[in-house]
Order: sequence, then C-alpha cells, then structure tokens
Amino acid sequence: MVDKMDKIVALAKRRGFIFPGSELYGGLANTYDYGPVGAELLRNIKNLWWETFIHRRTDIVGLDASLISHQKVWEASGHTTGFSDVLIDCKECKHRIRADHLIEDYLGEHEQKIDEFIELFTSVPHSADIDPERIKTGIANKKVEGLTLLEVETILNHLKIPCPNCGKFAWTTPRKFNLLFPVHLGIVMGDQALAYLRGETAQGMFVNFENVVNSTRVRLPFGIAQLGKSFRNEVTLGNSVFRTIEFEQGEIEYFFDPESESWEKLFDSWKESMWHFVVHSLGIREENIRWRVHTDDERSFYSKRTEDLEYNFPFGFKELWGLAYRTDYDLKQHIKHSGKELFIVDPKTNKKITPHVIEPAVGINRLFLMVLSDAYYEEGERVVLRIAPRIAPFKVAVFPLLANKEELVTKAKGIFETLRVQIPCMFDDRGNIGKRYLYQDEIGTPWCVTVDFDSLEDGTVTVRDRDTTEQVRLPIAELFSYFSKKLSQ
Ligand code: GAP
Repeated sequence: MVDKMDKIVALAKRRGFIFPGSELYGGLANTYDYGPVGAELLRNIKNLWWETFIHRRTDIVGLDASLISHQKVWEASGHTTGFSDVLIDCKECKHRIRADHLIEDYLGEHEQKIDEFIELFTSVPHSADIDPERIKTGIANKKVEGLTLLEVETILNHLKIPCPNCGKFAWTTPRKFNLLFPVHLGIVMGDQALAYLRGETAQGMFVNFENVVNSTRVRLPFGIAQLGKSFRNEVTLGNSVFRTIEFEQGEIEYFFDPESESWEKLFDSWKESMWHFVVHSLGIREENIRWRVHTDDERSFYSKRTEDLEYNFPFGFKELWGLAYRTDYDLKQHIKHSGKELFIVDPKTNKKITPHVIEPAVGINRLFLMVLSDAYYEEGERVVLRIAPRIAPFKVAVFPLLANKEELVTKAKGIFETLRVQIPCMFDDRGNIGKRYLYQDEIGTPWCVTVDFDSLEDGTVTVRDRDTTEQVRLPIAELFSYFSKKLSQ
C-alpha cells in the first residue's frame, strides 16, 4: 500500500508544489525546488508569519541579515565546536546515517520492547565511562540527542540495530560531523578568509543587537525577528522538505529583563501565540499538534527550558517549532568574543541591562509540509487539499463552461481580469469542467467560478465550494465582496 507520505510527495510533484533539487542531473540529496504553486504557498505562509509577528505587534522589529558571516560569529555562538551530528557508516554498504535518528526510529518501531531493552541493559556490566541512567532515560524517552559518543555506541551495540539499507550490523565507531558550511572568501588560493553560511538566523539578531537598539525606539521587552535561509550539512534523507540542507527559518529573539519580567509568563504567552498561529492562522487540526518538553540531556546547557511544538506528520510526531529560554548566553558570548559591551539602558533607572532572551524558532518549510499533510483528503476519485483559504496558492479559478464558445471565454476572462487585481486567481479553459475541478481541488483552490450560457443572459455565475462541492448561483457584480468576506472569516 502506498502510504500517505508517498501520496503527498507524488501530488506535490504532479501539481508543482515541490520538485527534487537538480533533478535534470540526477538530483542532489536533501535539496528541493518549489514549483509555481508551491512558491505561492510558501510565500503566503512567510507573509502570514511576518504579518502576525512583526506587522501586527508593536514590540517586535524585523531584520534581514547576511547569509554569510564572519567565522568569529560562529566561534562565539559555539557552532564551530558544538554544532554537530553523530554519524555512523555501514561498513558493508557504505550507507551513512545519523546515529540518533537510527536509534530513535528503531525504538519507535519497537515500542513494545522498550522495557525489555532497559531490563536487559541493567542486567549486564558496562564501561565505567558511561552513565547507565542517561542511557536508560534515553531509551525510555526514545530521545538520545545529547548522549556522548560512547553512550551512543553502547546503545547501538546493545540493541544491535541493523543498517536500514542492507540489513547488516556493521557500523563504524560514531563520529561527530560539524553542520556548518564553510565558505572561502577571496580568489587567491592560500590567502582566502574562512567564513560560514549561517546555520541559524538567530545569530544575526545577537550580532546586530546594538545596531537595532541604537537605530530604533525599542524598549524592553522587545523582539528582533528574521525570516530567511539557513544552511546545515544534513545527511538524513527522506520525508521531503522536512529536513534539508538549505531551509527557511522564522526566528524571533525576544529580549527582556529577568528582574522585571517573569520568564515563565513570557514563555507561556509565546506558547499560546505559536499554538494560535498554527491552529487559527494556518488552519491546522488541533488534535495533530502537541507540546514536548526537552529532557535535561537534550537541552543545551545554557537553556533553562526548551519545548517543541510537534506536528503529527505522516511519519509520526516530529518537531515543528522550538521554543527556548536561552538566558543571556548568546549576548554574553558575543560580549566575550568581540570585547564590546552589549546592553540597553533602562530609561527610568539609567541601568545598563544585558537582557535575557526567549526564542521561538520555526522552519517555514516544515510549516509548508504540515499544511500539505493536514490538508490532504481522499474522497472517492477526488483528492482535495483543504488548505485554509487565506494561505491557499490561488483563491479562485475562473472557467468558461466551453472553451470553444468565444462569448463564454470573453466573459470569463473579463471576470478573471477584474478579480485578479485584488485576489490571486487562475483562469483555466483546458479539458472539461470535471477535470478542471479535480485539478483545482488538488492545488487547494477554495472556489471555482463557471461562466455558462445563463451568465450571458442574466449576469450570474456558478460558484463551487472546494470542501463541500456545493454550488451557488451569484451575480457577477457580487463576486468580489463574496470572496473578500469569505477570505476575512
Ligand atoms: N536558533 C535555534 C535553532 O535554530 P533548531 O531547533 O535547530 O533551533 C529551529 O531549528 C527550527 O528550524 C526547527 O524547529 C525546524 O522547524 C527548523 N529546522 C531545523 N533544521 C532544519 C532542516 N535541516 N530542515 C528544515 N527545517 C529545519
């Protein structure tokens, strides 16, 4: 049976949402291109994120920082040393994989055996260099991020997890691979400066903290937000755009003075905003999302609390949007490495404050994949994407009933030209009307307008609803206000 993810991937290619990257030349692993329909959806999600968190709030300002940055930025942030994945290679078939993903997927597939694994682990002696309690907690929680290389190796050996590619158990010793992409600037070999493609947008906000404070009217608490590409040398394949080497992040660094604000309250209010955005702005079913609190081993040492908003993708509940209380770690690191003071002055007390930060960080491409997954329905012969109208790639499609009747085509084109000035619309006169409906259902267009012979007589058209397939007859003059009202609901 073809599973739901395969069907979504096939639809995404067939209808121009997502194409595999460099496909003409055999493809390039973990890269994707967004087609004509996907580019619209991606843009709509990005615009809604920006509108919600920057334009509609008075306490957050935007930023658009460089993709390439000085190596010292990434030394200060800890990425050059600590931003790595644990990889293993199969000695038989040379398959390379992230050890934590392999173990976590295996535990997910063998959930009923987890107690047995732990019991067996307890009953045998282990090296003094590992912490058996951390291993047991990791197995019990199906989360092994943050364990040492030796601990990861111990779990692999204990569970005897085979290679998912060839089925053999012949792993190399786990090693750490840094995820940052180095960039060599300058054209003279041997005299090039090392820089990095950014591994997260967040550092742009910390590095520009002083610039933003000095150039704007911000006062604590306030946020700096950024939407843009980040790059990570990921090896894990599959699951479409869920994990790619180049992806779009939407991150906010929300700065506050811990002496005047309760971080717990701010954290909870961010949780509410994120949940609201997913459910009410993107129209996702509430039963498909949940919060997961990071375990102590998983959380960065500087973070006081980290929670992930997870979505139930066709391949299980996975991280969608992270929320972390990063304390003043990042600003302090940049103070230490740059030798500059980074602070904001409290206008009431004149006190210099190096604020703490709460960071909601989301991958826009994951939001995109979530929208496709949540909207996908099969009803008999029909596949329909019930995308929330406000983010649907096209809101309305206009058709003449028959493509060879010039008067119908002219009338339909006239309606299309009038509507498209304010509403993203599509005109289609190919094939028969049934096929046109099926096409629009598959790209998630909420309404189709058909011009028929009655339209020429009485100035009315048929409007068909994507979700119910019900049709109503409306005067052409009322179409714009009808759709505007629906879109604002
Ligand atoms: N500044 C914190 C940070 O970058 P992260 O958990 O590594 O935290 C934040 O990333 C979000 O970015 C994740 O929740 C996920 O939605 C998205 N993300 C991370 N790596 C990704 C990748 N390789 N491909 C697509 N999205 C990714």
